[in-house]
Amino acid sequence: MLTQADSKLTTIIAEQEAIFIARQPASARLAAAATARLAGGVTSNWQITIPQPVWISRGAGSKIYDVDGNEYVDMHGGYGAALAGHAHPAIVAAIRGQAGHGTHFAQPTRDALAVAEELARRFGLPLWRFANSGTEATMDAVHLMRSITGRDLIIKVEGGYHGHHDSVQVSVMPDPEDAGPAAAPASVPSSSGIPAAITRLTRIAAFNDLGSVQRLLESHAGQVAGMIVEPIMMNAGIIRPLPGYLAGLRDLLHAHGALLAFDEVKTGLTVGPGGVTALSGVTPDMVCLAKSLGGGVAVAAIGGTATVMEHVASGEYEMVGTFNGNPLAMAAARAMLTEVATPAAYDKLTRLRERAEAGLTRIIEAHQLNGRVVTAGAKGCVVFSAGSVRDYRGFLTADDSLSHAHWLFQHNGGVFLPPWGKIEQWLISVQHDEADIARLVDNFAAFAQAVSP
Ligand SMILES: Cc1ncc(COP(=O)(O)O)c(C=O)c1O
Repeated sequence: MLTQADSKLTTIIAEQEAIFIARQPASARLAAAATARLAGGVTSNWQITIPQPVWISRGAGSKIYDVDGNEYVDMHGGYGAALAGHAHPAIVAAIRGQAGHGTHFAQPTRDALAVAEELARRFGLPLWRFANSGTEATMDAVHLMRSITGRDLIIKVEGGYHGHHDSVQVSVMPDPEDAGPAAAPASVPSSSGIPAAITRLTRIAAFNDLGSVQRLLESHAGQVAGMIVEPIMMNAGIIRPLPGYLAGLRDLLHAHGALLAFDEVKTGLTVGPGGVTALSGVTPDMVCLAKSLGGGVAVAAIGGTATVMEHVASGEYEMVGTFNGNPLAMAAARAMLTEVATPAAYDKLTRLRERAEAGLTRIIEAHQLNGRVVTAGAKGCVVFSAGSVRDYRGFLTADDSLSHAHWLFQHNGGVFLPPWGKIEQWLISVQHDEADIARLVDNFAAFAQAVSP
């Protein structure tokens, strides 16, 4: 039965969706025309925003502009890839410079070595390889764990997303009725097209629960190759690891002859210069990076210990790819690491994060909203739930309708947060400023006013 509060929220969402559509007639026309040539009218299913896809014309600094001419403070950041902001002068110069000297050789260039040197310094892992997307990096990590140990099973966290290859498209957002008991979560395929035989090789643990990993390692003794985990869980709002969890995972896995891979595709450069790896002091066997590393150009990296990467160097594991270490991507990544993601930039990001956190928290308290601000470096979100969240099942209790209403208020007020409501987080870029954060906070105040009783 709909409560009065539910029906008020439904009305608010309908009003905001009507405003959204009225502001974007050109997007609507393109979206309709595109269905004839782009499957689903978009270039990735994640671009199907509700109520309609937003077509973008350009980006500059902290802003993006849609095809109708509306300006947004961009905190979507292309799903967390735009830590540099848009058209950052250092990234533009690097891309221009390399484009004039050729964009593809499939042979190493000096920039690749410079990027590897800097990643080794930041993440404390000596050897690196490159790829083109987060999916490729985590796929190689999973293959490597299997190659090194000669075992087939891997462990992944319920609710974790690591890209769209078979081994990790398991229990990404399982329906509660399919998910099995909390003490022994089921392996649920997250898309059609994933063979059941492969799904069964991925075993599921709860985040922040060492016991669930221990049970899997003991019940499948000698069969687990390793575990892939986001060390701060994103794609479920933001869930921080409890003290001791990451070190406990590493020790537990190693005690059972298994490996640990951190998926830092999202957290990578955004939570700090050396990701959660540097922040936590827990160095895993492998780290996967992508998204913001390329300053907006497609690139991924995988770093490993000397022991792990020996399997690559010897050719025992075939880590290959036509565009791996592409010179354009390497030039952009080098500029990102040496000129954009600098100590001064991280100081600025911290100041802006604190401003956002304080402003939003003040409003939540003033309106007694059921929610809290959770941040990690340049990333942050509002989680609309009564208590703090420590794993996927806790995250499911967060209110999706409030998240959607918040997204619409921000959008109509000129702040582009990542779509998909409660799942995603904002990204503050090095080009954002106080006025951008003030717009975020003002829109949140309007939202809070509207949804308060
Ligand atoms: C944590 C994490 N790992 C891996 C991926 C896959 O990256 P890509 O979309 O570049 O393949 C994503 C994408 O959102 C991600 O959030």
